[in-house]
Amino acid sequence: MFFGELFIMAEIKILIADDDALVREAVFKILTMFGYTVVTCATGEEALAALSGDFALIILDINMPGLDGFETLKLINARDYGIPVIFLTGAGSMEYAVKAINLGAYDFIPKPIEDLDIFNIKVKRAIEKRRYVLQEKAYKENLENEVRSKTRELAEKNRLLEEYNDDLEVSTLNTMLTLQTALEEKDMYTAGHTNRVTFYAMSIGQAFRLGEGETTVLERACKVHDLGKLVIDVNYIRKPGPLSDEEWLLMKKHPEIGANIIKHLAFMQREIFLVRHHHERMDGRGYPDGLGGDELDLLTRIITVADSYDAMTSMRSYKQNMKEPEAIAELRRCARSQFDPEVVQVFAEVLERRIKTGAG
Ligand SMILES: [Fe+2]
Repeated sequence: MFFGELFIMAEIKILIADDDALVREAVFKILTMFGYTVVTCATGEEALAALSGDFALIILDINMPGLDGFETLKLINARDYGIPVIFLTGAGSMEYAVKAINLGAYDFIPKPIEDLDIFNIKVKRAIEKRRYVLQEKAYKENLENEVRSKTRELAEKNRLLEEYNDDLEVSTLNTMLTLQTALEEKDMYTAGHTNRVTFYAMSIGQAFRLGEGETTVLERACKVHDLGKLVIDVNYIRKPGPLSDEEWLLMKKHPEIGANIIKHLAFMQREIFLVRHHHERMDGRGYPDGLGGDELDLLTRIITVADSYDAMTSMRSYKQNMKEPEAIAELRRCARSQFDPEVVQVFAEVLERRIKTGAG
């Protein structure tokens, strides 16, 4: 035996419980001679008190005062250390040996111990089993830790990706808004239109108690609703006096163009409908598709009212703007034919409250 092996052997702890002092002594001597560290106990209770996960093997006598070997085994099993237990059985007590194995004992050794080689082999095999159990436990723990850490890593990456995605959506929207604002700012008549439409639509949405998702769609759609005007000759927009038929025809293309611009943005799929249809009417006489009634959802009906109200109340190159009460009356006059009457009613109430409190 090399010194190193001896050192490792001395680290292996074995717990023995036997009420017979002679047997206890004999087993102690044999195992110490084999190089193990041995802790001896005279009863099951003592063994349970000395028990810890440090032991590689437990050797139990069956007949002991107080807790017998079987009862002691049950209590050892309840501690769940996974330490193999070898029973010491008197000669001819095969029945006991079977019972011990059924209770979860690893092996049994007949008393008195006569064949040291067999005893040594049985002890070594049990210790091997313990080593295997510990290795498996460590492997399982490592695996669990690794899975936990990978899951955490993945969750963090996911979070960053979502954050990045949100940032990207916001940046894209801001870029489009900047372009649209730049376009509006070129023309004193339309300056601030998009921001005002967004503000009005948000006030209506709030009064309708829209959910977070619906509010986001409405807000985004408002911010880009006139984006299509970017590709229309700006001179038309700034032109003094009414547009010619031909110019109107071109101008009326802006909802389609705007919808086309955003259709490749995966996060703005719902907004496409609102942008395309923000000049439709309830009676189906709007453009570009002549949709009406139930074909127009609530968000589109809201944006239509908000957009038209701003058009009425802001100075246009070809006509004088209306005062608020006049524009509210105009919205009411066109409810049902052009606008959803419920949206008009809700918006009128919002505006009238603002006028009363002087916020308008
Ligand atoms: Fe428009």
